[in-house]
Amino acid sequence: MIDNLPQLEADALATITAAADSEQLTDVQTDVVGKGAPLTLARRDLGSLPPEDRKAAGQALNEVRARIEQALETRRSEIAAVERVAQMETERLDLTEVSESAHIGHAHIVTQAWEALEDVFAGMGFRVAEGPQVETDWHNFDALNIPPGHPARDGFDTIYVEHGEPGSTLLRTHTSPVQIRAMLTQEPPIYIVAPGRVFRRDTADSTHLSVFQQIEGLVIDKGISLADLAGTIEAFTDSYFGSDFSSRLRPNHFPFTEPSAEFDIQLPDGSWLELGGCGMVHPNVLKAGGIDPEEWSGFAFGFGIDRLAMMKFGVDDIREAFTNDIRFIRQF
Ligand code: PHE
Repeated sequence: MIDNLPQLEADALATITAAADSEQLTDVQTDVVGKGAPLTLARRDLGSLPPEDRKAAGQALNEVRARIEQALETRRSEIAAVERVAQMETERLDLTEVSESAHIGHAHIVTQAWEALEDVFAGMGFRVAEGPQVETDWHNFDALNIPPGHPARDGFDTIYVEHGEPGSTLLRTHTSPVQIRAMLTQEPPIYIVAPGRVFRRDTADSTHLSVFQQIEGLVIDKGISLADLAGTIEAFTDSYFGSDFSSRLRPNHFPFTEPSAEFDIQLPDGSWLELGGCGMVHPNVLKAGGIDPEEWSGFAFGFGIDRLAMMKFGVDDIREAFTNDIRFIRQF
């Protein structure tokens, strides 16, 4: 046995090096230094040697055992290092990585249209203004030349709010009251657009909801004429829809503008889309806004943002856009 010692050591070191993982190495360890290992058994045989040889033989065994144990230790830490790297690789969480399955949200189609409109009008020199959704009857009607009892009030299907005097507070039926608020808080010249939510007591169908969005435009300056209004509508059409679209004005009636018109957009296929109303600001409205009609004149326009979004994104039922069905929303 002792004669085989160098061979035994060489074999042990070779199996240690060959162990591929910590489990294999544990088995190898049992084989080479465990209770039944030849090296352990050889220790027991020392007693059968002549006393003068025992010491040297014992020392030789101890040295071999120490080298084998050292080799086991070295191999164990090598394997542990490799296994740690592999574990880190499989369990790694890369927080900067965007998963293919992650859905990133985007603005609603009406918000997209709203923001694009703001950009177009900002590019034409308009500033964005805002007004409250809960409005006074005075701002929504009286100041816009629609006194109590005026037939135009019936056309608006107003939702009133229980606040103050009965009938004095309402959910605005259009964005036109922002005209009044702008005139009362700003010195002319005024160039504003006011996008916002409006409310009417409407039964929902494919083109109407009782809550919808409009954008109002108001210009007050010296010497403003109907030609400026028509030119502005045309410039807007060009810049929002593209140069293959054009616009036209058709006579109409609104109490707050005189003259008044409806404006339509012609699509490249020749068809017309009725977009909104417009006209020269009525002198009574200028007066209600604290502006002298002898000195200043202006025009206003207003139209629905939702209808524009429907056309742009090819939606035929506006109700679809607000049911928050993720399958609908993800299409745009
Ligand atoms: N406020 C009108 C509506 O809601 C639209 C409009 C705005 C008309 C400005 C003329 C001038 O129908």
